[in-house]
Amino acid sequence: MLNFIEKVKSTAREFQRTIILPESKDDRVIKAAGEIIKQQLAKIILLGNEKEIAERAKNLNVNLDGVVVVNPLTDSRRDRYANLLYEVRKSKGMTLDKAYELLNNPLYFATLMVKAEDADGLVAGSLSPTPDVLRPALQIIKTKPEFSVVSGAFIMVIPNPQFGEHGIMLFADCAVNPDPNPQQLAEIAIASAMTAQKLLGITPYVGLLSFSTKGSAEHELVEKVREAVRIANALRPDLKIEGELQVDAAIVPAVGAQKAPGSEVAGRANVLIFPDLQSGNIGYKLAQRMSGGEAIGPILQGMAKPVNDLSRGCSVDEIVNLTAITAVQSYYGI
Ligand code: ACO
Repeated sequence: MLNFIEKVKSTAREFQRTIILPESKDDRVIKAAGEIIKQQLAKIILLGNEKEIAERAKNLNVNLDGVVVVNPLTDSRRDRYANLLYEVRKSKGMTLDKAYELLNNPLYFATLMVKAEDADGLVAGSLSPTPDVLRPALQIIKTKPEFSVVSGAFIMVIPNPQFGEHGIMLFADCAVNPDPNPQQLAEIAIASAMTAQKLLGITPYVGLLSFSTKGSAEHELVEKVREAVRIANALRPDLKIEGELQVDAAIVPAVGAQKAPGSEVAGRANVLIFPDLQSGNIGYKLAQRMSGGEAIGPILQGMAKPVNDLSRGCSVDEIVNLTAITAVQSYYGI
């Protein structure tokens, strides 16, 4: 874990991307901003009232030298952002008046700064529920051209090095899409392979999970996974993506060899794709709790620019780490 985060931080340090933290009313965010600047991980924009933020930083004994503070209520770019929001959403009923009103919401303002390329990415959620962070991003930044869905991956750090890449694995989608269709599931597999390659620096072996291994059971739920594998293989024949696999066949070499002989992925999968959000969310929490490991994320993938969502119980370190991850995602375009 330390190793992975230290690697991400050193990459982030090299690229110096500009990341917005809109929830400056949270003391943890102020502390994280100070820490990010101290560790030189990224350039930081905080949203809020300059005077208030300076005062709170002083009380918290945080040095914010180098942090840019932007006040969404008075910023000179309001007209530009309101017009941008109106243009992007007018087909959905957006009016210019409504656009100006939404700019008063720091999450919308931050999302528009990223859309306008005045920042490279954003990290929020310490004060806001997941849908409030995701919705403006999905509506305004949208997906990359090659994807139709955004999904959420967790980097799993499992103490037993026999799994994945010395205990490091990627699980998806564990955060966003309740019931992806085969095309969406295929895209989630491809996006996850890219995240594993670029962010984790590993060769992805992607297993699409089911309760069946290569035809051992027949059901429409299994067929959905098989269809997703066919689509993913057709879209990206260069990637190692296989299924359907039961989870033991995916990660235990002996079981993989027995149930899916000849498979390149079975027994050595380091990227696990769950068939729906119930299994994904349950799966990552079960692996985390029962192994005594860690789950870092969700890391949103498939978005045109990186936006990441914090848990409301997050620590200052978690904000710092997710900001470093967001900066690296921005550099690699993942
Ligand atoms: N990928 C890309 N675009 C999407 C996605 C997606 N996965 N989901 C929705 N959108 C787009 C829609 O196309 C729509 O765009 P449009 O307005 O331009 O047509 C826009 O986003 C809003 O879509 P809605 O269907 O109205 O979606 P809604 O705002 O109701 O919800 C959300 C979207 C917030 C992502 C919802 O799917 C959700 O709540 N998912 C589950 C999140 C969650 O609770 N996760 C578990 C907790 S996180 C954890 O445990 C780690």
